[in-house]
Amino acid sequence: MKLIAGNWKMNLTPEEGLAFLSALGNVSRQDVTVALFPSFVSLAPLREAAGARNIRLGAQDVFWKPSGAFTGSVSAPMLAAVGVEYCIVGHSETRGRFGKLEIEASQLPYFSETNETCRLKMEALLANGITPILCVGETLAERESGATEATIAKQLKEGLAGIDTSKVVVAYEPVWAIGTGNTCASDEAGRVCRFIRSEVPQVKAVLYGGSVKASNAAELFAQDGIDGGLVGGASLVPDEFARIIESA
Ligand code: PGA
Repeated sequence: MKLIAGNWKMNLTPEEGLAFLSALGNVSRQDVTVALFPSFVSLAPLREAAGARNIRLGAQDVFWKPSGAFTGSVSAPMLAAVGVEYCIVGHSETRGRFGKLEIEASQLPYFSETNETCRLKMEALLANGITPILCVGETLAERESGATEATIAKQLKEGLAGIDTSKVVVAYEPVWAIGTGNTCASDEAGRVCRFIRSEVPQVKAVLYGGSVKASNAAELFAQDGIDGGLVGGASLVPDEFARIIESA
């Protein structure tokens, strides 16, 4: 079973999301699970139309406390209440590892995810029956200094400490490949995904993410060790996303 996850990031209003689903048509396939990750405000409005197409709903983030004085945050019970089945954790954009920092580095622990906050989020999600998709991956500097495996191993070890990994999906997302058009070469993506599987053998699936497009999806998904994709930009174009699902 392959998993194709479309991360819409901060794109598409509820109305635009509904139009996307109409244009996508019927992509339901027995051997592929498809999930879409709209913004929080689109989750409830898209629930019915997504369900009718056998598309699962996912959230892009969560706060680990169930309720309380945490202005601006959304909890796992709230996500479960609107039918969310998956949630991204530790995306490089929410870890603050992508591009130029717009805040002081000293403030990072307050505003960005760490391996420890990823772990807390996954605990909260699992307690509410939601499958976490934990994103891991190295920056360009880490890759060039030969630290790819060490970076990922640390993210997995600290992020998944005490977590039932059989209920978790991991996505290999090399930071330098996200939103840049620089896809990781498919054999290298496969190699790192197999490394992840060897570190955490029980995980449900290992996805590749980073500039997945209709033109490279088939080659990536054919790699041993890659169980699907986490797709950003290309998941916003119905025809492109449909072709990626077709390639799975
Ligand atoms: P991209 O994003 O496909 O636009 O590179 C992938 C992701 O951030 O998950």
